[in-house]
Amino acid sequence: MDKYGCNIRRAVWCLFVMTLIATNHAAVVDIKTKGAKGDGITDDGPAILSAWKDACAGAPPSSMLIPPGTYLSLAIVLAGPCKGPVEIIAKGATIKAPPELAKFTKDTWININSVDKLTITGGTFDGQGQQTWQSAKCQDTQMSCQIPVNLRLYKIKNSVFRDMTSINSKNFHIVVLASDNNRFENLVIDAPGNSVNTDGMHIAKLNGLNISNANIRTGDDCISFGDGSKNVYIDRATCGPGHGFGIGSLGKYPNEEPVQGIFFRNCTMTGTTNGVRIKSWPDSMPGAASDIHFEDIIMNNVLNPILIDQEYCPNNACKKGAPSKVKLANVSFKRIRGTSATKVAVKLACSAGLPCENVELADINLTFNGGPATSECSNSKPKVTGPTVPAICRA
Ligand SMILES: *[C@@H]1O[C@H](CO)[C@@H](O)[C@H](O)[C@H]1NC(C)=O
Ligand SMILES: *[C@@H]1O[C@H](CO)[C@@H](O)[C@H](O)[C@H]1NC(C)=O
Ligand SMILES: *[C@@H]1O[C@H](CO)[C@@H](O)[C@H](O)[C@H]1NC(C)=O
Ligand SMILES: *[C@@H]1O[C@H](CO)[C@@H](O)[C@H](O)[C@H]1NC(C)=O
Repeated sequence: MDKYGCNIRRAVWCLFVMTLIATNHAAVVDIKTKGAKGDGITDDGPAILSAWKDACAGAPPSSMLIPPGTYLSLAIVLAGPCKGPVEIIAKGATIKAPPELAKFTKDTWININSVDKLTITGGTFDGQGQQTWQSAKCQDTQMSCQIPVNLRLYKIKNSVFRDMTSINSKNFHIVVLASDNNRFENLVIDAPGNSVNTDGMHIAKLNGLNISNANIRTGDDCISFGDGSKNVYIDRATCGPGHGFGIGSLGKYPNEEPVQGIFFRNCTMTGTTNGVRIKSWPDSMPGAASDIHFEDIIMNNVLNPILIDQEYCPNNACKKGAPSKVKLANVSFKRIRGTSATKVAVKLACSAGLPCENVELADINLTFNGGPATSECSNSKPKVTGPTVPAICRA
């Protein structure tokens, strides 16, 4: 008998077992074996793509290794479906985008799509966006904007993203769309407070996303939610500089899907323009957002700590006067404390056409200049539990 317990009688069985062992031996495809230079100058995109294709087609468990080092890559698309679960190991690796916008023709630098059970571990994705922020082109938040986002996850399911870093994206850092049941752990997002349109994460049209321990410093919303965001759990996130955590703006486009089930817990905002915000356009398309809960949030010197704004109309890009047709219901703010950088710390400006339903505030303590801040409400009739600072208006 050999070490697999084989003898002639069991030869056929043994052949089967040994074949299984051989094919199941984890395949690790190192991008260096595909010609990646890792000098930070050569375009290593083709090597990454070639390694990805092998890893994706390989018998699971299969992985692509980006060894520690600095790599330059033009825009790449890592597409599935793959043969089975697949991993990208990028611990200690920095991948840089070329700084020149002219080298991009699409809306994304790194596009990963159509993969089930993907794991990405580590990796710093540097968009080198400094030049782009200075150009005047495309500075509103149109998704049709052709300035590339750092990382776009599209149709990714049951996947885990761990210990990743995104810095200095030209546009949004990370966009997650049409992707269900995914998880981010230990995420770092970093761009200067004056960078343009650099939302940390933008989430839309997905069901099931958990983000734990995210440290976000950027020039726009730390996390923004578009229509169709469902069952999103965020805990232990920090935000600042940045524009805060924002649901919406909603109601701009026809046929928007409802936003439903967004849970923030244990977050800290520092020096941000907004804390927790829900916004929709006046005179808008119909829409809905419900079951949105913010709990255990610390505000440090935040301009608008708690804000529902259904009259959101930047640059007068809409008709004011007619109310928003986006219905907000079942929204709560609990255990929110700290300092406001303006006198009005709580503003609930709901739609006159569709007043907010079941807005709840409890254990709020927000001060301004060492004294109590104030609150303003319209069309909201919030339910208030316990003493709050400021006293919450009941209109
Ligand atoms: C996200 O967290 C919630 C609440 O803890 C949990 O029920 C859900 O299964 C988690 N989802 C994922 C994709 O990890
Ligand atoms: C939030 O923080 C509290 C106190 O530190 C802790 O007990 C709780 O488990 C945390 N919850 C989450 C969801 O991180
Ligand atoms: C709000 O919550 C109540 C009680 O849980 C529920 O009956 C109602 O359907 C919810 N409304 C919306 C619009 O989700
Ligand atoms: C609110 O916070 C201030 C400053 O931290 C504190 O002095 C005050 O006692 C708190 N008030 C309540 C009602 O918790």
